[in-house]
Amino acid sequence: MTIVINMRDGLDWRKIRVSGRLILEGKLVAFPTETVYGLGADALNEEAVRRIFEAKGRPADNPLIVHIADFNDLKKLAREIPREARLLAERFWPGPLTLVLPKRDEVPLVTTGGLDTVAVRMPAHEIALALIRSSTPIAAPSANISGKPSPTLAEHVIDDFYGRIEAIIDGGETKVGVESTVIDLSSEKPTLLRPGGLPLEEIEKIIGPVEVHPAVRGKAVDLAKAPGMKYKHYSPNAQVVVVEGPRERVREKIRELIKEYRSKGYRVGVMATEEFEADEFFYLGKTLEEVAKNLFKALRELDKKNVDIIIAEGVEERGLGLAVMNRLRKASGYRIVRA
Ligand code: TXA
Ligand code: MG
Repeated sequence: MTIVINMRDGLDWRKIRVSGRLILEGKLVAFPTETVYGLGADALNEEAVRRIFEAKGRPADNPLIVHIADFNDLKKLAREIPREARLLAERFWPGPLTLVLPKRDEVPLVTTGGLDTVAVRMPAHEIALALIRSSTPIAAPSANISGKPSPTLAEHVIDDFYGRIEAIIDGGETKVGVESTVIDLSSEKPTLLRPGGLPLEEIEKIIGPVEVHPAVRGKAVDLAKAPGMKYKHYSPNAQVVVVEGPRERVREKIRELIKEYRSKGYRVGVMATEEFEADEFFYLGKTLEEVAKNLFKALRELDKKNVDIIIAEGVEERGLGLAVMNRLRKASGYRIVRA
């Protein structure tokens, strides 16, 4: 049985206390953050964390992010807190930034997928912060079945988990729409493991040049350090095709592809920043912020309309565009058409 807790009109402390108690009892509670919805459990409770992996169908070696509400909690999770971590936390927390640091023994290996590092973030969402404060640090991957697009609405979580977890807190649509930026600070050089809601440019303003893990832009590689990178991600049932290149040529190419696929009898959906005539169309918005916010919803909604193919317009890889393109390419299984 799943209870859906309505908090769309803002924080309700009575409901938060009930939800926090569920977390402390080892139950699973999905909750909104500013990026996407998370599927939460007590980060230090092995049994509870195991249930997250089970519910999601997530491979055991893909580690979870631990969510905190107070900088002091970081000291209970991380063995070392380098200068860069302090600087970034001070500037960007609460916010869509996750830091990977050497872990303390208290953090179960189940939570970190067997790694001796732990990923930590402080979300910028009043419901998430209140839930953590009323319970404990919360391990939470995105609240989607493994391999599916991340959830930006409680409805998405209900679609994937109703009847399989104890509670879902409905806090309305998430603001950012793509997951947090993940930076590894556990080794020599700061390294971007996953582009996300906080643009890389902003991070480099604070700590200088950051290495970009090759898997961020290119094809996924099998790499023990970045376990999340090797799995299928964000994929709807329809085949996604990403069209990349100069804007004018991309538009031209999308029109061509729509004709081509339709002539073969496929139902074609398009998600783009301007209107196209196809069987189904989802308008992503104009700015990169809007595109990021609408991205996962577009994939899920087009899928519900039973299209065979989703043609997605590529955007420039600056600011949030780096995260958007990373998600789109993965969603397409790297089926990329150059215009
Ligand atoms: O915005 C977000 O980050 C959302 C919300 C709920 O906070 N959470 C999220 O979690 O996206 P998840 O599990 O879907 O993605 C976590 C990513 C994965 O790519 C995982 O491999 C990586 O972070 N990660 C976690 N711990 C790590 C570690 N110790 N070392 C390297 N990568 C790690
Ligand atoms: Mg995820």
